[in-house]
Amino acid sequence: MNRIITSVLGALIALQLHAVGQLPVIPYPQSVVTAEGHYNVSHGFDVYSADSAFVDEIDFLIDKLNASGRNSRAVDNSRRCGIVMKSDVSVKSPEGYRLVIGKNKIEIAASDAAGAFYGVQTLLQLLNNCRELPCVTINDEPRYGWRGYMRDDARHFTGVESVKNLLDLMAYYKLNRFHWHLTDGQGWRIEIKKYPKLATVGGIGSHSDPDAPCAYYTQEEIREIVDYADKRHIMIIPEIDMPGHATAANRAYPEYNGGGEGIFPDFTFNPGKEETYTYLSDILAEVAGLFAGPYMHIGGDEVAYGINAWKVDPDVNALMKRENFTDVKQCERYFMNRMIGEVAHLGKTLIGWDELLDLDVDKSTNIMWWRHDKPAYLTRSLDAGYTTVLCPRKPLYFDFVQHDSHSVGRIWDGFCPLEDVYAFPDPWFENIGVTPEMQSHIAGMQANAWSELMHNSNRVDFMTWPRLCALAESAWTEPANKNFKDFELRLNDAYRLFDKLNIYYFDHRVPSHHPEPAGPVIKKMSRESETDYRD
Ligand code: ACM
Repeated sequence: MNRIITSVLGALIALQLHAVGQLPVIPYPQSVVTAEGHYNVSHGFDVYSADSAFVDEIDFLIDKLNASGRNSRAVDNSRRCGIVMKSDVSVKSPEGYRLVIGKNKIEIAASDAAGAFYGVQTLLQLLNNCRELPCVTINDEPRYGWRGYMRDDARHFTGVESVKNLLDLMAYYKLNRFHWHLTDGQGWRIEIKKYPKLATVGGIGSHSDPDAPCAYYTQEEIREIVDYADKRHIMIIPEIDMPGHATAANRAYPEYNGGGEGIFPDFTFNPGKEETYTYLSDILAEVAGLFAGPYMHIGGDEVAYGINAWKVDPDVNALMKRENFTDVKQCERYFMNRMIGEVAHLGKTLIGWDELLDLDVDKSTNIMWWRHDKPAYLTRSLDAGYTTVLCPRKPLYFDFVQHDSHSVGRIWDGFCPLEDVYAFPDPWFENIGVTPEMQSHIAGMQANAWSELMHNSNRVDFMTWPRLCALAESAWTEPANKNFKDFELRLNDAYRLFDKLNIYYFDHRVPSHHPEPAGPVIKKMSRESETDYRD
């Protein structure tokens, strides 16, 4: 019954959409000029390149067209109709494109393969969402270069197929950064050849069950996913969290344990032992070799939960004496600076959580501002000239619920509704006092999906969609071209797609369409408490 109501509602909304003349594309392009008429499908969907450019993007398009039942193949450029891809240096942004749909020809022009790929995505959305392709000229480019999503595979492991499915949808909505939280207290999820127990021992357990079967990504699987992402113009940023959130690693190799306290036992790596630096440098070297992108994320968050243990650790005490430190916080700075050096030695750019600002890290470091209740960390980061990614808990942490009828997930004096994700960031800039000059240091924005309460695919889907569509539009579309009411209409196409893909999304119009899935049954006390501990 719900499905019938949803379909009827969908049809009505589609009609309304047609009436207001919005193009059914998410994220909405910067410039859309429609013309009379439609593409004449008798010209078919064969694709040619005007100048041998964008071979991979053409292959991608042809595969998708054939998969949707439209016959397509690559043809030579003596053809004058069908789909043409061409390079055009007048398209200034490397991620920008021009898509011109005429009655006889569809043309995608870009100066770079990424832009050509996004032109393809827009065309695919129009093909999926329109009965006939309208004649139109679209000139488009993103507002932000960093349009990201973070998956936490440490608390609950999702696996290769799930990651690939996510990457497919990220690409469809022009998201280009996949931040992969691979290690934390509850599980270590990446094979490290030199220290195999990290995966085989550290990979045992999850947030809901410390005895859950071992789960991790082999290096072969990581390579496969990196390649899959690369074909979709998505860069993967691996995160190996340190010196806190190290409980799973310390289960595997207790010799590098720096201790913890209370509900955070064995929470840190030991900064006082020289062997710790060798161990972590070896790990980072293997990780760096697996990921083609320029970034290495080494966390740096919430060390305070375990740092008191350092006060009584003999190796840390010896370090403090040797370096004339009077406070364990200086050990944290010492540790981070050594690891920053290591990341630089590997030729990577370091990225970490906003706690790094307290350590006066090198200006080449990229900062993720996450503590929404500490806006001074954002202004400090921008004032100091750090390249900064915006991912404040409110409204961009998708472990918060998204509707006031929901109860499984964080609710802290409010939550993260679709509207707020969509509205971000400009009203926040005004409130916090982020000036245009400061904004020039913002790389972009991302949503983070901490998975303590996402133990199965239904819960992952439910917390992700449709909020990730809103994030995609906020990160891509200039504020002047955003309109929440229009966006809501366009979401109808996303919902149709999600139904086809069997995605258990939250239908914000018909909440009963997919009832809120139950949270995990916590089988035993996790090694880190399930208590809400984030500061
Ligand atoms: C974080 O949420 N601990 C970055």
